[in-house]
Amino acid sequence: MSAQRPMRLAVLFGGPSEEHDVSLRSARAVLKNLDPSRYLIELVGITREGGWLRPASSRRLLDGEEVPEPGGPPFLPEGVDCVLPVLHGPGGEDGRIQGWCEMLGVPFVGSDSTSSQVALDKVWTKTILRYHQIQVPSWSEVRRAAFAAEPSATVRRVAQERGFPCFVKPNRLGSSIGISRVENPDQLTHALEEALRHDTIALVEPEVPGREFEVAVLDGDPPFVSEPGEVVMDGWYDYEAKYVSDRAEIVVPAQDLHAATHNRLREIALRVFEVLRMRGMARIDFLVMKSSGRVYVNEVNNIPGFTDISMYPQLIALGGVAFSEMLDRLVEQATGRKAESVLTTPV
Ligand SMILES: Nc1ncnc2c1ncn2[C@@H]1O[C@H](COP(=O)(O)OP(=O)(O)O)[C@@H](O)[C@H]1O
Ligand SMILES: [Mg+2]
Repeated sequence: MSAQRPMRLAVLFGGPSEEHDVSLRSARAVLKNLDPSRYLIELVGITREGGWLRPASSRRLLDGEEVPEPGGPPFLPEGVDCVLPVLHGPGGEDGRIQGWCEMLGVPFVGSDSTSSQVALDKVWTKTILRYHQIQVPSWSEVRRAAFAAEPSATVRRVAQERGFPCFVKPNRLGSSIGISRVENPDQLTHALEEALRHDTIALVEPEVPGREFEVAVLDGDPPFVSEPGEVVMDGWYDYEAKYVSDRAEIVVPAQDLHAATHNRLREIALRVFEVLRMRGMARIDFLVMKSSGRVYVNEVNNIPGFTDISMYPQLIALGGVAFSEMLDRLVEQATGRKAESVLTTPV
């Protein structure tokens, strides 16, 4: 690509996941921060039904207006130099679009298809982290078919394995959709039904009572690892606390944090980024147990929220890298690794 020609950047947003609305919010913030002199921006909106939209309809989707067409199969505008997927949850963050870009040989921002699949899958993430001796809350896995066949026996087993209170989650989602905090066996039955409406696999974890921290990683040589931020709230960080009410406050940087814990969170965040072979960006979320000070990795986000109120851009900005510069870096990294596409990487 010549230095004069602005880069043609396809920004993907929306999508079939239940995090569709969050993606629209992230995309609006991203578009505000992309330097128009640097990029020719191609909007590619994806409807809730999975239809890929041409530019005029994409703009309408982004602006929250009615879209007059169903959209078509996946496509990229002519001559795109790089893809920026601002998509959360299954169908966008889970490796499928990344794998499609890899097959097409088009550079894209963020982790490759394998890492994306792992990072969106809570059970796989925990399994790999545990193998690397990175602490995660213990868990029980429940499959939809097994639960349907033997609901009471499943609830008895899980209650015995994890105790109460516990958290029940769909395996591959985000934004706390489908998650419940559970205090007794009756609630556990309902919570499993709810989680299994969203995914064929649910997981159940004991509650880690304490504080909740998040660390942002921006790839580079070496990667930039942010200060920890804290989510301070009453109760837990459910969808309503994340996007609707002001029950949760994002504190950047986290206050009153023991130096040893501070360092440990950053060290572990980098290790997680490395062992999961992530690229571009990641937000690593932690639970720190109040009684023991033990640090657990709760989950990993390979396409973190980019909304105006999101933690990731705030943590990166705290490190001196503004939102627009962060986007430039991500795109530069993505295009710099074009040669690594699946078509040219020896197997
Ligand atoms: N084991 C746990 N102990 C305490 N709180 C938890 C636990 N698991 C989840 N939570 C709470 O639920 C929220 C959402 O869970 P999380 O695994 O991060 O799902 P999501 O991918 O939807 O964000 C967390 O931010 C935290 O507040
Ligand atoms: Mg989370």
